[in-house]
Amino acid sequence: MPLVTMLLSMNIGLVSGRCQSDQQSLLLNLKKTLVFYELASTKLVKWNSTPDCCEWPGIACDDGGSGRVISLDLSFEGITGGLDDSSGLFSLQFLQNLNLSFNGFSTTLPVRFANLTDLISLNLSNAWFIGQIPNDISKLTKLVSLDLSTNSFFGPALKLKKPNLATLVQNLAQLEELILDGVDISAQGSDWCKALSSSLPNLKVLSMSNCFLSGPLDASLAELRSLSIIRLSRNNLAAPVPEFLANYPKLTALELGLCQLNGIFPQTVFQIPTLEILDLSFNELLQGSFPEFHQNLSLQTLLLIDTNFSGTLPQSIGNLEKLSRIELVGNNFTGTIPSSVANLTQLFYLDLSSNKFEGRIPSFRRSEELTYVDLSRNNLTGEIPSGHWEGLLSLTYVDLRYNAFNGSIPSSLFAIPSMQRIQLSNNLFGGQIPEFPNVSSCLLDTLDFSSNKLEGPIPSSVFDLANLNVLDLSSNKLNGTVELHLVQKLRYLTVDLSYNNLTVIASGKNSNLSSLPQIQMLRLASCNLRVFPYLRNQSKLFHLDLSDNQITGPVPGWISELSLLQYLNLSRNLLVGLERPLSLPNLSFLDLHRNQLQGSIPVPPLLIAYVDYSSNNLSSYIPPNIGMMEGENRHLEYINYELVEMWERVYYQDSITVTFKGRELELVKILTVFTSADFSNNNFEGPIPEVIGQFKALYVLNLSHNALTDHIPPSFGNLSHLESLDLSSNQLTGQIPPLLARLSFLSVLNLSYNRLEGPIPTGSQMQTFSADSFEGNQGLCGPPSNLVCFNPLISACSNTNGSISGIEIDWNFLSAELGYIFGLGIVILPLMFCKRWRTCMSFDFENQFAANLLLIKGSVGRKLEM
Ligand SMILES: *[C@@H]1O[C@H](CO)[C@@H](O)[C@H](O)[C@H]1NC(C)=O
Ligand SMILES: *[C@@H]1O[C@H](CO)[C@@H](O)[C@H](O)[C@H]1NC(C)=O
Ligand SMILES: *[C@@H]1O[C@H](CO)[C@@H](O)[C@H](O)[C@H]1NC(C)=O
Ligand SMILES: *[C@@H]1O[C@H](CO)[C@@H](O)[C@H](O)[C@H]1NC(C)=O
Ligand SMILES: *[C@@H]1O[C@H](CO)[C@@H](O)[C@H](O)[C@H]1NC(C)=O
Ligand SMILES: *[C@@H]1O[C@H](CO)[C@@H](O)[C@H](O)[C@H]1NC(C)=O
Ligand SMILES: *[C@@H]1O[C@H](CO)[C@@H](O)[C@H](O)[C@H]1NC(C)=O
Ligand SMILES: *[C@@H]1O[C@H](CO)[C@@H](O)[C@H](O)[C@H]1NC(C)=O
Ligand SMILES: *[C@@H]1O[C@H](CO)[C@@H](O)[C@H](O)[C@H]1NC(C)=O
Ligand SMILES: *[C@@H]1O[C@H](CO)[C@@H](O)[C@H](O)[C@H]1NC(C)=O
Ligand SMILES: *[C@@H]1O[C@H](CO)[C@@H](O)[C@H](O)[C@H]1NC(C)=O
Repeated sequence: MPLVTMLLSMNIGLVSGRCQSDQQSLLLNLKKTLVFYELASTKLVKWNSTPDCCEWPGIACDDGGSGRVISLDLSFEGITGGLDDSSGLFSLQFLQNLNLSFNGFSTTLPVRFANLTDLISLNLSNAWFIGQIPNDISKLTKLVSLDLSTNSFFGPALKLKKPNLATLVQNLAQLEELILDGVDISAQGSDWCKALSSSLPNLKVLSMSNCFLSGPLDASLAELRSLSIIRLSRNNLAAPVPEFLANYPKLTALELGLCQLNGIFPQTVFQIPTLEILDLSFNELLQGSFPEFHQNLSLQTLLLIDTNFSGTLPQSIGNLEKLSRIELVGNNFTGTIPSSVANLTQLFYLDLSSNKFEGRIPSFRRSEELTYVDLSRNNLTGEIPSGHWEGLLSLTYVDLRYNAFNGSIPSSLFAIPSMQRIQLSNNLFGGQIPEFPNVSSCLLDTLDFSSNKLEGPIPSSVFDLANLNVLDLSSNKLNGTVELHLVQKLRYLTVDLSYNNLTVIASGKNSNLSSLPQIQMLRLASCNLRVFPYLRNQSKLFHLDLSDNQITGPVPGWISELSLLQYLNLSRNLLVGLERPLSLPNLSFLDLHRNQLQGSIPVPPLLIAYVDYSSNNLSSYIPPNIGMMEGENRHLEYINYELVEMWERVYYQDSITVTFKGRELELVKILTVFTSADFSNNNFEGPIPEVIGQFKALYVLNLSHNALTDHIPPSFGNLSHLESLDLSSNQLTGQIPPLLARLSFLSVLNLSYNRLEGPIPTGSQMQTFSADSFEGNQGLCGPPSNLVCFNPLISACSNTNGSISGIEIDWNFLSAELGYIFGLGIVILPLMFCKRWRTCMSFDFENQFAANLLLIKGSVGRKLEM
């Protein structure tokens, strides 16, 4: 047999099988000129395997037995590089169907496609031809289907500008499918609509999403009576949706997501009897509400994510018998979820989250296909009968978070064999957590019951769930004891048992647990821990919260072996120090506040976004280069990037909203976002290191309640992001650096109870703080303190009286005592003439500084008072 094949293929000039010899040689020429990945190819590689080219994969010949190749499909063949103008392809003159989709040609579209005048369908979808589409395509007048679409994240591959859309389609009167998604057309509403309506009377499929089209939709489109599918998502239509869309007699799909649509959506569109798919998502300005749904409708998919719809879900939604997917996330729907939803037997995907639905939820028992239910972030109430979920065999995801459900957790959820994720946090569920049946075969991946009112012990079966990765039972009223080795046995990724009434027993260093390094996030805040849990082997740990326990002794030295650690919270314990200095290259959050740490700061120079050492007994000098030397927000971006990346895998505390793929996601359990350093309530003494001024990313700095001396470093003026600065209750002396007044984000400032003196610098921010920020400093003067001094008055005055604007005194040139006396001589005289000053200022005689001044030039002071 192989011999026969060989002989036959050598006799290529002869008719072999049905295939015409010239057709065969054209195909072989085509194959020879194409560059393609043999590994990706399933068709080209097999050409020439049989003598009859009509039998080669990807090829079809006409039925008449004439051996003409009429169909060529080279999709997904891993073709790279161009198509030669002399390629045999363009001489396959009988071709009617050509599919070159999903390849990487990376050249402009060859004009010789125009030679294939018999083409009925041309599919170059994602074939990666680039640049302007040539006019010659418009010569293919027999085309019924034309697909030039590209799904690109990197901008459009093809352009249709010169010639434009009108020129391309002018002769294509037979066209029924026009698929140009991702082609840069950049046309105005009336232009592109008229181009289509005047040339394509038979158009059934119009797919031009992401084509840089502008709106509004022109009324001429209404003439295309055969339209069945309209896909125009991701264009900047920026207009209301016209009524006429409701008049297409055969419309089955209407996709207008992310189009900047506005106005009120015509209700009649919902009532098109043939309509199966409606997608209006991500049009935040589009208002609307549901009409009554009649029994003769065909709706299967209804996507209204992040639009501005309101009103109720009508009871008649139960008439949409074919409804399988409904997503109404992020609208303003109110009222109850109608009981008729229980009649939607085809329902497969239900997302009603982030609305204002209230009341009780219907049963889902009859929706046997149901896989996904998200009702989170509504105002739903009442108990959920266990029977609501019985018999569902495909359900994988249930999210009921942020509602007001009460009663006990519906245990039937645990019995659903396909179930992977149950999220019930932030409700009012009470009672005990039921035991889990079939733990070994259970597919459960995520259990989130946090922030409810659950009580009693954690059922032991929880710790035997074979596939669980995320367990969050925090903030309930669970009690009893939990042995930590149970948790470790599970090889969970995330465990949070914080804030219950649990006693977690950590076995300490002497346990012989051979736990696998698996856990990534462990949160055991307020768990009555007395011993530092032995986690030495957990080298994947990046988030550890053991705060609010009674852990004694030093922080174990092995903690520095957990090199991925980013978040470490050991606050509110009885720790006395560290066995060894921490050296954790990825640490970005360190909280050791309210322990009994003594001596010097226990961390060497590090890049840390958040440090809190407050309320310890630390005394030695703050080392010069702790923290955020790497200016700006470089570090922050790094954290956020990681968060997004780990979004699917891991689970975070402390919620924050992040915009991701056009949708605002609430990332629960996230790391702290701003850069902050708190060293307050310790025994630090000596001057504040000048170098702190270089930690440009600082948002919050608290050095209060220490024994710091000397002046505030002028370099603090460089902390351009600083929003909060607390240096209160120290022994700082000297003047407030004038540059501090330039910190435009500063909204909290406390310099009280120091020994600062001189004028409070003038500047947009300083004067917005209350006098409390400066109280307890005997020598500070000027607004907003209640004391008057002179330098700031000059500027106050010169603003209203140009004649003295030349006079300025720089306090920096004047030493404290001399300056006050010396300065007065120059300053007082013009002040006497400054009306504004006289009318708006008053003295505080009780203050010693003012009193001193007045002693020197008492008479002036009294005059000013008037
Ligand atoms: C093939 O197309 C090219 C360019 O469009 C044209 O010049 C040539 O005449 C065509 N040949 C045939 C046989 O149609
Ligand atoms: C190639 O495209 C044609 C229409 O252009 C289509 O009918 C056919 O299914 C496509 N081939 C594959 C393998 O998808
Ligand atoms: C073009 O081919 C791709 C894949 O081969 C297919 O998904 C697409 O539906 C085809 N286009 C048309 C219009 O049939
Ligand atoms: C949403 O619709 C309401 C009326 O239902 C309107 O008051 C509000 O301004 C709209 N919001 C936006 C963002 O358009
Ligand atoms: C659909 O049903 C409604 C009410 O039952 C009726 O008014 C309408 O004419 C029907 N439409 C079609 C196309 O049958
Ligand atoms: C809900 O309605 C209120 C006022 O009617 C409006 O301010 C708000 O933007 C709407 N919310 C959404 C998500 O559309
Ligand atoms: C469900 O549909 C049946 C008929 O199919 C109807 O009798 C019943 O009233 C419907 N239930 C609800 C709650 O709409
Ligand atoms: C939730 O419903 C309760 C009554 O059931 C009501 O008092 C409360 O205002 C509602 N909350 C919101 C956010 O609509
Ligand atoms: C649940 O809340 C409803 C009110 O929404 C209340 O009537 C009912 O008694 C509560 N049930 C339990 C078990 O607390
Ligand atoms: C746990 O709490 C339940 C009530 O919620 C109580 O009956 C039980 O005695 C408590 N167990 C322990 C060990 O405290
Ligand atoms: C926590 O449990 C202890 C007994 O283990 C009990 O004495 C205490 O009252 C409980 N606390 C709360 C808030 O339930």
